[in-house]
Amino acid sequence: MKEPFGINRRKFLAKAGAGAAVTMIWPFFSSCDSQSSTTAKPELGKDFQPDIDLELKAVQRDLSILSGPKTKVWVYEGKLLKGNKEALQTLEGSYLGPVIKVRKGQKVRIRFQNDLPEESIVHWHGMHVPERYDVHPQDVINSGETYIYEYEVMNRAGTYWFHPHGRTGPQVYNGLAGLLLVTDEEEQQLNLPQWEFDLPVVIQDRTFDENNQLVYLNNGQMDRMTGFLGNRILINGSPEQRLNLKTGCKYRLRLLNGSNSRIYKLAWEDGSPVTVFGIDGSLLSTPKELPYLMLGPAKRVDVWLDLTDKPEGTELTMKNASFPLEIMSGGMMGDGGMMQGAESDLPQGSEYPVFTALANGSGSNDHTLPGQLAQPDYIDPSTAGNLNAPRQFTFAMGHMEWTINGRTWETTEVADEETVKLGSTEVWELINGGGMMDNNDDGGGMMDGHGMMGDGGMMGGEDGMMNNQGMMGNMMQMPHPIHIHQVQFNIIERDVANVDPQLWDAIKDGFVDEGWHDTVLLMPGMSAKVIMQFKDFKGLFVYHCHNLEHEDMGMMRNFKIV
Ligand code: C2O
Ligand code: CU
Repeated sequence: MKEPFGINRRKFLAKAGAGAAVTMIWPFFSSCDSQSSTTAKPELGKDFQPDIDLELKAVQRDLSILSGPKTKVWVYEGKLLKGNKEALQTLEGSYLGPVIKVRKGQKVRIRFQNDLPEESIVHWHGMHVPERYDVHPQDVINSGETYIYEYEVMNRAGTYWFHPHGRTGPQVYNGLAGLLLVTDEEEQQLNLPQWEFDLPVVIQDRTFDENNQLVYLNNGQMDRMTGFLGNRILINGSPEQRLNLKTGCKYRLRLLNGSNSRIYKLAWEDGSPVTVFGIDGSLLSTPKELPYLMLGPAKRVDVWLDLTDKPEGTELTMKNASFPLEIMSGGMMGDGGMMQGAESDLPQGSEYPVFTALANGSGSNDHTLPGQLAQPDYIDPSTAGNLNAPRQFTFAMGHMEWTINGRTWETTEVADEETVKLGSTEVWELINGGGMMDNNDDGGGMMDGHGMMGDGGMMGGEDGMMNNQGMMGNMMQMPHPIHIHQVQFNIIERDVANVDPQLWDAIKDGFVDEGWHDTVLLMPGMSAKVIMQFKDFKGLFVYHCHNLEHEDMGMMRNFKIV
């Protein structure tokens, strides 16, 4: 029997699920395979004097999320051992981890304790930290073990986050994620909203079963190919999708798209522009007003909300505005939407409410949105050694696998084009290469004469997806949000010549490309040139698609700084 997902690939652990049609593949590592440049687990540094010392425990809990039975979730629980108490803020009743607040220059120690029933490790998304603290998927620790992080915060003020790496999709889905907010001198001088006026807005989609339990990958392999889409939106872990605010006040909304694969096109329902002033790892130089905002998985954005002149009781809804994302071209789309998640009531790109800001009290604060925010300290493209011949990385489907330059994840493998020099400035061209489902460069490609039906393949036949036999010859067109560990980069150019004009027309005003980023959303056919500096730390790091199902299927590779 031909397995469709590269099951015989070295170092992949395959788990047969229930039923022949389900094959679970994760980039999941047995310790005997590990040959890491990170050797021993980091221990408590006796000479390290942390400003903030905290414990972060991953543990299974039962929480009341919907009315009725409690939901089994995996949560990060924080405990401050040393530091100002503002450094750790718990989101009451939420499965989301604590909000950790640090300042550039501070030394932080985090004692991660894994009390989950399986291996895990924490990645500090967007942070510029040494290899062993950035973590590599093979750094996962067993249940009951502890992993010590000790680093100095070197990043600019921005909204970062943390989540597991390894079996990333299911672990994040089960609840493991939290915000890490960095502030710095420059930001402190701006009189931006703080404390109760500086609000996390973590946007995620989830599906619950009739017993209120989370359902993951309900469409089996198809979900894994497209990425998981839940059928309802949660805000900060709550199904109420509501922010309780005060009229007379101004707010900094820290939006994080913490969804596994869902892309948002965020717009105020009343048509007012969305005012954006920060992105990923920085404030912008000046605020920007956009008609709507595209927010791919893992991206963060700071949105300004001014309720000064709003009467009490005002409700402002941020909705998802529609965009035409057709994942398959050709016959397979016969029923008009099958690839958008047959069981999701919220197809990707449909219109639905995301959250409502409710002014149900009154107050005042004197914060203002300055016309000048961060100094634009962006990299001068002419300083890149390879400006005219960037490294190219193509993210595409090959043989029913998600690949980067034709390769999939191998624990420690680094190709020549994935090796960079410490101290260098480089341009990388990240290309969404789509992928022919029937590509035939080795005589048949993924269909291989076995087809995907009746062969234990991805369709399994059970959901009738193949009924018009349109699969052969189709393009699989999916967005890929590309994340590079360890760095923040500037986006210098997006090439949209190959993007479907109808799609582009619906999304083109929603991208914020200024600022320092760690993730860039590539819609089908799109490519982007990003520029970055490899500084301070040598080592083995990963870059990957932040569609977590794509990541777990192997759309991840190492790069090495030497
Ligand atoms: Cu947010 Cu390697 O991931
Ligand atoms: Cu992807």
